[in-house]
Amino acid sequence: MAKSQVQFTKDNEYYTPKKFVERFGRFDYDPATTPEKAVEFGIKHYDTIETDGLSKDWSPYRRIWINPPFTVKHKFLEKAYETYRQVKNEIYILFPIEFITTARFHNVALGGKLFIPNGRIAFESGLGKKSSSPAFGSVVLKIQDTWEMVLIDIKKEV
Ligand SMILES: C[S@@+](CC[C@H](N)C(=O)[O-])C[C@H]1O[C@@H](n2cnc3c(N)ncnc32)[C@H](O)[C@@H]1O
Repeated sequence: MAKSQVQFTKDNEYYTPKKFVERFGRFDYDPATTPEKAVEFGIKHYDTIETDGLSKDWSPYRRIWINPPFTVKHKFLEKAYETYRQVKNEIYILFPIEFITTARFHNVALGGKLFIPNGRIAFESGLGKKSSSPAFGSVVLKIQDTWEMVLIDIKKEV
């Protein structure tokens, strides 16, 4: 995608704190990020709004981290399940807990391990604002065949 065609929006430019991502291990691909965050997380392969992660093949990667752009999170979730079905790689995807109560989620989500934190994640704003906790809770889903849920303590890092 050419730079002039892409649009950065406040809703999509909020970044995950490194410490939060690290609790899920190391990753080799992030389909929705910035070069700076990929370096910070030590993720070798990545796509950005300019290279469009949705148009790429995710199957060569073993461990994938996704905090999808808010406005198209359903598309990233769909692609994550498609890829998991093909190669059973380890895919972790973060989204607002409210998303779980939508038809878009139910129509594609066939199983997963849901990590539910005991607080709000202090996301970093990429568009110049100071970081702040959002007004909604976020969860992380590790895609798998069966449903499972675990409560996680993030109080020491938020
Ligand atoms: C919510 S941020 C998460 C960034 C980082 N992965 C993290 O966890 O902090 C989502 C990023 O995806 C980028 N993005 C938007 N559309 C995209 C697309 N089609 N392909 C790849 N990245 C995209 C946004 O510009 C934004 O930087």
